[in-house]
Amino acid sequence: MKPIKVGLLGLGTVGTGVVRIVEGHQEDLASQVGSPIQIGKVLVKDVSKSRSIHVPDHLLTENAWDIIDDPEIDVVVEVMGGIEPTKEYIMEALDRGKHVVTANKDLIALHGREIKAKAKEKRCDVFYEASVAGGIPIIRTLMEGFSSDRITKIMGIVNGTTNYILSKMSQEGAGYEEVLQEAQQLGYAEADPTSDVEGLDAARKMAILATLGFHADVSLEDVEVRGISRIKKEDIAFAKKLGYEMKLLGIAERQDDQISVVVQPTMVSTAHPLASVNGVFNAVYVYGEAVGETMFYGPGAGEMPTATSIVADLVAVIKNMKLGVNGQRALTPYKEKKLKSDEQIAYKNFILLHVEDKAGVLAQITQVFAEYDVSLDSVVQQPNPNNPDAEIIIITHYASRANMNKVFEHFEQLSVIKSIKSAYRVEG
Ligand SMILES: NC(=O)c1ccc[n+]([C@@H]2O[C@H](COP(=O)([O-])OP(=O)(O)OC[C@H]3O[C@@H](n4cnc5c(N)ncnc54)[C@H](OP(=O)(O)O)[C@@H]3O)[C@@H](O)[C@H]2O)c1
Repeated sequence: MKPIKVGLLGLGTVGTGVVRIVEGHQEDLASQVGSPIQIGKVLVKDVSKSRSIHVPDHLLTENAWDIIDDPEIDVVVEVMGGIEPTKEYIMEALDRGKHVVTANKDLIALHGREIKAKAKEKRCDVFYEASVAGGIPIIRTLMEGFSSDRITKIMGIVNGTTNYILSKMSQEGAGYEEVLQEAQQLGYAEADPTSDVEGLDAARKMAILATLGFHADVSLEDVEVRGISRIKKEDIAFAKKLGYEMKLLGIAERQDDQISVVVQPTMVSTAHPLASVNGVFNAVYVYGEAVGETMFYGPGAGEMPTATSIVADLVAVIKNMKLGVNGQRALTPYKEKKLKSDEQIAYKNFILLHVEDKAGVLAQITQVFAEYDVSLDSVVQQPNPNNPDAEIIIITHYASRANMNKVFEHFEQLSVIKSIKSAYRVEG
């Protein structure tokens, strides 16, 4: 039987896993798709580099056009990363009628619309399961498993680096810088960790999930982002004392077709399943009107977990080829994107204030909340042994962001408040 030939762009961590799975699971894969799958050619930057797997020399190339222009290659698997020249390679491959599987969340979040339009025009598949939460099949779940439901909330721990750092800070009471350095030494954080710790990586993934979950074209600019670099160990200690874990959560919500997507450090109640997702693991919580609460948990990265998702996409592409239905999986968002205003976005808040330690202060503060219609769940005042000021910890009920902004502006003018030490969203 004629094999299906795959062109692999990249043979790094993920590319190596793809070769291992395609070769190691050959019999199972062939039984599922009805043809052998063969790695036809592999693009690398440097063919002379030593590698952890053996790929015959004649399959390696430093010239992408050896793959893009090869009429024998049916599917291009892109695992080289980056935006350019990767985007050009993908667009050219699609132009030549090749299907594309990619793990590249940056590319999909930034140029997904253009790439999908080209794929549709050429009746090609573009699948990208590995781009969000590596080994968790969340994209297929949103597109197919929940196709009959209306999803109203997606919350994700979709960045393993930040989850590792926050878990360590929580478990060991350690400071951010110390844990970041340790994560870098262990290879869990990059030398330049900005994209991870400032929430940009998570924002790209949440734009992809929100687009699929809500059927609206959510772009990166629509995601409000705050990272973890300013979280203090005291914040985490307070969170634990009150029954919460600090997590970098991506939160996408929809109400009456109005959408909001944020990535921000969030205090998650220990009763919520996301609170117990620790280390480099990822999890995505999905709430559907009909199904209710669901959660998907697993490895968010790594050679074999990520390659599993890629080869599953490859299987889907080849099955479509056999049926002659490539390019027909509903990929286009069909709802108009309407973003929520600050008046429509509401959540519970944790606020830590340092205030003058004298009578009547608490009354002044609660008066401000009342003025802007924010009701309070709990207020705790305690003296601070290291500080002449007192600490006030407040948890609000659901309050609109617009009203909370007014509260914070008012606090700036209140002389009894020395500083707003911390403010976090609360979930669960
Ligand atoms: N690593 C993970 O766990 C993970 C998880 C989910 C998604 N992803 C995504 O998967 C993609 C690949 O990640 P990775 O960790 O496997 O990357 P990697 O280890 O850095 O591998 C990149 C590969 O691409 C090749 N390459 C890069 N730029 C090239 C160019 N301009 N021309 C030719 N070859 C080029 C490199 O060649 P040489 O080998 O010759 O240097 C290398 O083989 C990225 O989009 C990443 O975001 C990764």
